[in-house]
Order: sequence, then structure tokens, then C-alpha cells
Amino acid sequence: MSPLVASLLFVSLARAAIDAPNVAFKWKQIDFHFPSTQAKLDATTSKNFIPEHNVPLGLEVHGDRIFITLPRWKQGVAASLAYILKSDKQDSPVLRPYPNWRAHDQGVPNPEIVSPFRMRADACDRLWVLDTGSANIVDRDGFKQVTKPKLLIYDLKTDSLIRSYTIPDDQLHEDSFFANIAVEENGCEDNFAYLGDLGQPGLVVYDYKRNTSWIFKHAYFNMSPTAGHMVVANISFEWSDGIFGLALSDKDAEGYSTLYFHPMTSYNEFTVSTKTLRNETLSSDPVAFKNHFKLLGTRGPKSQSGVSFLHQKTGVLFYALVQLNAVLCWRTCLSNYTMESQGRVFMNDEVMVFPNDIKVDDDDTLWVLSDKLPVFMYGYLDYHDYNFRIINATVKDAIRGTACDSKMPKDDYYLKNITRTRSDGTAWRSGVVLPLLLLVLLSLWS
Ligand SMILES: *[C@@H]1O[C@H](CO)[C@@H](O)[C@H](O)[C@H]1NC(C)=O
Ligand SMILES: *[C@@H]1O[C@H](CO)[C@@H](O)[C@H](O)[C@H]1NC(C)=O
Ligand SMILES: *[C@@H]1O[C@H](CO)[C@@H](O)[C@H](O)[C@H]1NC(C)=O
Ligand SMILES: *[C@@H]1O[C@H](CO)[C@@H](O)[C@H](O)[C@H]1NC(C)=O
Ligand SMILES: *[C@@H]1O[C@H](CO)[C@@H](O)[C@H](O)[C@H]1NC(C)=O
Ligand SMILES: *[C@@H]1O[C@H](CO)[C@@H](O)[C@H](O)[C@H]1NC(C)=O
Repeated sequence: MSPLVASLLFVSLARAAIDAPNVAFKWKQIDFHFPSTQAKLDATTSKNFIPEHNVPLGLEVHGDRIFITLPRWKQGVAASLAYILKSDKQDSPVLRPYPNWRAHDQGVPNPEIVSPFRMRADACDRLWVLDTGSANIVDRDGFKQVTKPKLLIYDLKTDSLIRSYTIPDDQLHEDSFFANIAVEENGCEDNFAYLGDLGQPGLVVYDYKRNTSWIFKHAYFNMSPTAGHMVVANISFEWSDGIFGLALSDKDAEGYSTLYFHPMTSYNEFTVSTKTLRNETLSSDPVAFKNHFKLLGTRGPKSQSGVSFLHQKTGVLFYALVQLNAVLCWRTCLSNYTMESQGRVFMNDEVMVFPNDIKVDDDDTLWVLSDKLPVFMYGYLDYHDYNFRIINATVKDAIRGTACDSKMPKDDYYLKNITRTRSDGTAWRSGVVLPLLLLVLLSLWS
């Protein structure tokens, strides 16, 4: 058995839903709602809209709107931030630009929005959008830094830009790339945003009240040189991304969260308290804060993880395993972060190829966007086939019967034998019978 299969086997029981997740929306190719047929024709003729270059990446759900980012990998992205309605009855709804078309005009010296990857809505109806500021990211015409990376904050009640904060030069590096954001709620006026720079690598802390930021740099943000090789949809590539997944726990008695984080090119998970991160003075003293950053544990071979999200009500950390076309979870109240203590939520070689963003909305529904990104970047997407999907499930259904289910005992001893092969979802291995019985009993009790 390969280490891949072995590493995968952690996990998960007879839950029909998990590996055949509910696809809420899916697209072969993205289309936008232009103001008129003529406007669409003009955009197509001028190559401001090249449909094949529009690949959704980030998602956020707020009220009835599902926000989607579409980074400017290549020329022809009509709008890099858009939305659809949750209530839309179509399988492949047309996207509407957010907040409006004007904000996406790239023909002006300082466009409002250039190329955001991920965003986060807070409880005060604001959308925090982290804009990389870069265009033609993988285009042969060449990478272009159109604006400095910035944090844009929109009021979702009025759809107006309420703040634009440019990351200061002394927190940037020539390799900077700001793709991930976590927002710590602290009333409305005292929120903090944690902005992950995967290239430098570094973590910029933005203080909303003071409209200022500072940077932490730590060895744990670095990529692990032995974890760079990846294979997705039979395409091999090397990635060297540093700090990536950022997920915040609920606040402790003192009012601070734990930030769970990992580099993309790594098998490890780390933590740090926001008590450390929010301390600007401390950020300039690496010797003093060095040991505040902790290694939580390791997930095992081929477990490079992209985005992550922590559902604060259950304390479950959800994260993407990019090589395995899977979303997994881990209960933050468990004492050990090991291969065996992870729960498998979704794994599917068709609908889950490159899970690229994960959110849980206010109704406790888990949303995942998958987009076959490496195929777009290094191969060719087949536009006759579905390429982009939004998958949803209630958190309850998503974690049922996994190591993340609170109905399961905290000790993970019984998980060690719960294994099944990857390709054949029904081929239970011998070790499964006893644990399965245990679980049946457990579920009868509950
Ligand atoms: C998933 O999304 C679809 C489409 O918006 C919706 O009808 C359904 O209720 C959602 N499922 C959950 C669990 O929220
Ligand atoms: C916040 O700082 C930015 C600098 O990037 C500045 O342009 C903006 O006006 C400031 N906003 C407020 C509300 O102070
Ligand atoms: C990967 O390659 C194998 C063997 O060449 C093939 O059987 C399989 O269908 C391919 N999978 C994908 C996702 O293209
Ligand atoms: C911030 O860090 C400094 C230097 O280590 C320390 O003296 C100070 O007490 C810290 N502030 C808070 C609010 O924890
Ligand atoms: C957790 O890890 C500790 C230290 O490595 C070990 O002693 C303990 O048995 C582990 N607990 C479980 C439930 O595996
Ligand atoms: C797993 O199963 C094997 C064989 O069925 C058994 O020898 C082993 O003790 C089991 N391990 C655990 C942790 O239960």
C-alpha cells in the first residue's frame, strides 16, 4: 500500500453522503451579467472578457449572496469579485460583479479592485477583501503588479467601499503574495485581520480601530523543502508556498483566539495565540515571541493543505487536502493532532478536484468551492465538462460519524483500524468490523 493510501485511510464511516457531496452550483465556464448585449460584445471584442480565463477561487456566503473571487491569472477576467444568489434555481448561474462594474475597470490608473483571492464577511455585515493587486499572474504576457496589495472593506448593507488599506512598503517583499485572510471579531470597531503572505513569507496583522498594521515573521511560516511535489488530476508540479491556511478559534476567557495555520508546502499544522499577534510591540522582537508559535502536529505524507476554516460553534477545523481531492476536519478539543485523529468530510475525484475555498455560513452550512486550478494553470480545462463547483452540506451532516463528531469519544484509539481503500469507496478492509460495531452501538445510545 502506498503511503498515500495509508495516510488517507484515517477516517470515516458508513456515511453515504460524504463522498458523494451535494453540488449546489456547477459551471463548465463562467459567464457574467453584463449591462447589455452590446457591453458584452464590446468586452469580448476588446479581450477584456475571455471566458476561458475566468476561474473562480474564493468564496464567502452572506445572507442570500455567495461571493466569488476570480483572480486575474490571465488577461480577460471581466470582474475579479462577483456574486450569485443562494436562492438561484439554475445550476450554473451567471455572475454579477461586486460591488459594480466600475470598481473592476482596469483601464484607470488605480483600479479599485485588481485580483483578490480570498475574503471574509464579519458579523457587522462587512466584507473584508484581500486584494493581491497583481494581474496576469500566470500569463505569458507577464506578471504585473497593478497596485500594492490592499485590504478592501465593503459595507454589505449599502455595497459601498468603507475602507481601503494599502499594506505599507516596510511589510512587503519582492516575493509578497497575499492570498489568505482571517478576521477576528471583537465588537465591530475593534476587529483584527490576519493577512497571510505566502511568498515572503509573513503574517500581517491589521488593526481596524487604528487603521494600521504590523508584520510577524517566523520560521514556521516557511515551506518545507521536502513537501513541494504535488500531483493533482495526473498533473505533477512543484509548489513552494509558505503560510497559507489561516483559521481562528473562538475567543478564550481573556478575549483572544488561537490562530491555526500551515504553509501550503508542508504536512504540519501550527498554532499561535492572537494575544501574541495583536501585540505590535512584540512583533519587532523575534527572540521574545519565537516560542509563542507552536507545532500542533503532522498529518502525514501527501497531506499538503490549502485553505482552512474553523467552525467556532463546534470547534471543528475544516481544511482542504489538495493532492487528495478531499476536505478533512479535526476537532480542536482533541489533545493530539495526528494522522489518525483527522476526519474525512468529502473525498471525490470528480467533484472535489482542487478544493480551493471553504467557509461555514451563519446557518452552519459548510460550503466548498473546487476549481481544478492546476489543470487550468499547467494543462487544459475541458470546457465541455464541469470544471467549477460549489458544494454544500450542514456541518452536522459533514462531520457525522467522523473523528470530528462530538458524539464520538475523544480518544481516537478506535480509529486506527478504520480504513478503506481510496478508489473503491465500498471496499472495507478487515480491520473495520469491530470499530464499526462500536459505532453502531454508539449511535444507538445517542
Ligand atoms: C445548498 O445549496 C442549495 C442551493 O443554494 C440550497 O438549496 C440548499 O438548501 C443548500 N444546502 C444546505 C444544507 O444549506
Ligand atoms: C487607512 O489607511 C489608509 C492607508 O492605506 C488610508 O488611505 C485611509 O484613508 C485610512 N482610512 C481611515 C479611515 O483612516
Ligand atoms: C490518470 O492517469 C491514469 C493512468 O494514466 C488514468 O487511468 C486516469 O483516468 C487519469 N486520471 C485523471 C483524473 O485524469
Ligand atoms: C506586549 O509585549 C510586550 C513585550 O513583550 C509586553 O511587555 C507587553 O506586556 C505585551 N502587551 C500585552 C497587552 O500583552
Ligand atoms: C497523545 O499523544 C501523547 C504524547 O505523544 C501520547 O502519550 C498519548 O497516548 C496520545 N493520546 C492518544 C489518545 O493517542
Ligand atoms: C488493528 O487490527 C489488527 C488486525 O485486525 C490488530 O492486530 C490490531 O491490534 C488492531 N489495532 C488496534 C489499534 O486496534
